[in-house]
Amino acid sequence: TSALAGGIGGEPPLVIAHRGASAYAPENTLAAVDEAAERDIEWVENDVQRTKDGELVVLHDDNLRRTTDVEEVFPDRAPWKVKDFTTAEIARLDAGSWFGPEYAGTRVPTLEQYLRRVERHHQKLLLEIKNPVLYPGIEQQTLKVLGNEGWLDRKHVGTRLIVQSFSADSIRTVHALKPSVRTGFLGTPSVAELPAYSEFTDLINPSHGSISTGWVAAVHAFTGAHGSPLEVFAWTVDKASDARRVAGYGVDGIISNKPDAVREAVQDG
Ligand code: G3P
Ligand code: CA
Repeated sequence: TSALAGGIGGEPPLVIAHRGASAYAPENTLAAVDEAAERDIEWVENDVQRTKDGELVVLHDDNLRRTTDVEEVFPDRAPWKVKDFTTAEIARLDAGSWFGPEYAGTRVPTLEQYLRRVERHHQKLLLEIKNPVLYPGIEQQTLKVLGNEGWLDRKHVGTRLIVQSFSADSIRTVHALKPSVRTGFLGTPSVAELPAYSEFTDLINPSHGSISTGWVAAVHAFTGAHGSPLEVFAWTVDKASDARRVAGYGVDGIISNKPDAVREAVQDG
């Protein structure tokens, strides 16, 4: 069986709430974490970046336009990059109204605030280091915040935390700095590339349209950085038909904006 539950051996895949349960509440906010918890979703995914004054915040895009009212509040600050705004400025932004009026006043959380909410719900975290080239040293800083909040304690680290990135360099750095942390590479490497990845990753997390039964089986045949078979979490799957298809490939996890619907689809078989 797989280290974290999931597909190897035939169990239904784990379901991970993408940016929180982001079909039902504004992505990457505490409301999206709460929404996942209310739907009994154990794992949440988020994206981490850094502000001008060096604090880690949870946001997907490298700029604040799509998911906040930054253009109204700071009209002269184009192109509204996260890295050009202080934490105090970002704290003034409304990160909920774009999604629905009932979320007016929802804020962009700091990583610390986010971790505390996930902890309060006893959930598990798939943390993505986003755009690491923009934020030198973000790997070490992320590990420091995780450590301060108790996420690297021995009883937790192997079971409730995965750090992932599209950047292999970033993941390699996380593994070198803190080998006990489980890591995932976002992408669909060729089978020939897998031995190199397996030195520093535990998971290979591909776009769901890019994979096949053969590819998933090939990934599972390699041993990851912690001695278990490399696992596969596929993203971002919202349709029942896609969920059943990738579950049929034998993936270990499915990352979804509608995690409750996907869970139902894969449990039905
Ligand atoms: O967790 C996988 C997924 O989040 C990767 O893509 O762009 O949604 O961060 P993106
Ligand atoms: Ca992400």
